[in-house]
Amino acid sequence: MKRFENKVVLVTGGTRGIGQACAALFAREGAKVAICGRDAATATAAAGAMEGDVHGYGCDIGDVESVKSLIDGVIAELGTIEILVNNAGITRDGLLMRMKDTDWDDVLRTNLNSAFYTCRAAARSMLKNRYGRIINLTSVVGMHGQGGQTNYAAAKAGIIGFTKSYAQEVGSRNITVNAVAPGFIGTDMTADLGEKALETVLDRVPLKRAGTVEDVAEGVAFLASDAAAYITGEVLCIDGGLGM
Ligand code: NAI
Repeated sequence: MKRFENKVVLVTGGTRGIGQACAALFAREGAKVAICGRDAATATAAAGAMEGDVHGYGCDIGDVESVKSLIDGVIAELGTIEILVNNAGITRDGLLMRMKDTDWDDVLRTNLNSAFYTCRAAARSMLKNRYGRIINLTSVVGMHGQGGQTNYAAAKAGIIGFTKSYAQEVGSRNITVNAVAPGFIGTDMTADLGEKALETVLDRVPLKRAGTVEDVAEGVAFLASDAAAYITGEVLCIDGGLGM
């Protein structure tokens, strides 16, 4: 029996990077997986390229109506949502004094409002099933801050408060809500960092390497598994020790 046999999983932003690695792992372990990206064609193509039962949906995760349609669509097609991974996220870095309103708003709605929208829309199905596993992607930056990322850090710190609060609301219904805080992971999101900056970051990582998307996916899968049934409201750092 595979670890997630027939479980229905939604990974937001599963078209690439960490989300893609999570979706691929769940699918390999027997789950029916839904992924979404802003563009339906890209999401469908990414789903088709993965091994197993993976379905792609178009959705702007920062838009409440778009999220409602996504959740309704997944439940109509796959029957329910048992595991929800709030992974989709963006950065719009810059010093605060020069930050545009749109850079602030886009990051907050994509990285924080999105978790509110998905959790609320999926709540009825999870409460009815008396089962749910929610894993929210935060970041070490949400715990320690980072100059040039006030918008991103505010959203990611918000995710931690959101996780702990929602965990208290739904624990009695056998729904766990946890967060994963990656450190520096090699993905498109971090690809623009110059060689010098990368060297500086890695120097601060006790394990002396960047994390891989698989490192993060394994932590997400653990929190979604039966092995983590008594863990809720927790933040699991997957950062090679960076945030110690
Ligand atoms: P990525 O940029 O490679 O992928 C982001 C995914 O989110 C893509 O699938 C993209 O289509 C989707 N997405 C973005 N905006 C969306 C929207 N409005 N609607 C729907 N989908 C949208 O990013 P990566 O590196 O895989 O990051 C995944 C998560 O992990 C993010 O929440 C990020 O903040 C977090 N994280 C990443 C770290 C890293 O070092 N890469 C470190 C700490 C946290």
